[in-house]
Amino acid sequence: MEHTLISPLDMHIHFREGAMLQTVAPLSAHDFAGGVIMPNLVPPVDNLERLLHYRAEIDAAISGTGFTPYMTLFFRAYSEAELRAARPHIIGIKLYPAGVTTNSQAGVQRIRDAEPTLATMEELGIPLLVHGETSGFVLDREREFLPIYAHLARRFPRLTIVMEHITTREAVALLDEHPNLYATITLHHLQITLDDVAGGLLQPHLFCKPIAKRPEDRDALLRAALAPHPKVMFGSDSAPHPVSAKEAAACAAGIFSAPVALPLLTEIFAQHDALDRLQTFVSDNAQRIYGITPPQKTVLLRREEWSVPLRYGDVTPYRAGCTVAWRVVMSRYDPVGHS
Ligand code: DOR
Ligand code: ZN
Repeated sequence: MEHTLISPLDMHIHFREGAMLQTVAPLSAHDFAGGVIMPNLVPPVDNLERLLHYRAEIDAAISGTGFTPYMTLFFRAYSEAELRAARPHIIGIKLYPAGVTTNSQAGVQRIRDAEPTLATMEELGIPLLVHGETSGFVLDREREFLPIYAHLARRFPRLTIVMEHITTREAVALLDEHPNLYATITLHHLQITLDDVAGGLLQPHLFCKPIAKRPEDRDALLRAALAPHPKVMFGSDSAPHPVSAKEAAACAAGIFSAPVALPLLTEIFAQHDALDRLQTFVSDNAQRIYGITPPQKTVLLRREEWSVPLRYGDVTPYRAGCTVAWRVVMSRYDPVGHS
């Protein structure tokens, strides 16, 4: 059995820099036609010069693959001139509340202080991508942030706001309350709950922010992805860390899912008799929501078991050593007609 996807997109990825980028970027670039690249480097990607330099490093690592890195800036107070200059080079700006996740120390302390920049972004049509967590009790952080999303959506009705990597049923419900709110959903949040992370022996390779929640939450996410809800997009939040940072007393947050993302999504959609809806979740919704036309790429998956490698370079992937039922057997970039 085979299944073809056209120009699949990963609307939330961490590529990092240097040797890590060289290891991980080609894996996404093989399976996907484009992806939204997160700016939480050290130091953050928060000016155009750094962004263009980072983009060039990515392009060099994936040249010829037909993959568009949709770049993001790290949110800070930007002037209108800075935003005008950056606009042609970015798909949006990623806002992190200060300290809520990896490399977010330079994030926003008070949302109110962000509003002048948000007003200019709304004016210029630059989408806002948000890591929506407070610094409250870990299981409540996303839920506590939802009123902030609601406030921003009302205050800036023409600003496109993407709730990144949603993990709760309440976040899914909020999509229907505000026309300008959208969301990405990861692979792992469709599969795991907190029990998988910490219910038995602690699983560092399943530890991420936001942390996986309850079965009811996972089920709501799964329903939204399978439908698919017209306002949700696939975004893996694939976030590689060296094995030494994961298998450590202070384990870094992040799940490296890039090499298994499409095969496992296909497995999930096939299990639910929804293969005909995967294209919408993994590409069409994102194209419509962001108004993008990715490179023309045909990706063929076949129902054929394979065993996930234990490592890619120095990184342990999601589902390492497990058997996956589908694999990518062909990825063809067709440059004709794409500029
Ligand atoms: O688990 C996570 N890892 N969540 C994030 O928000 C950041 C990411 C990372 O950069 O490692
Ligand atoms: Zn992320």
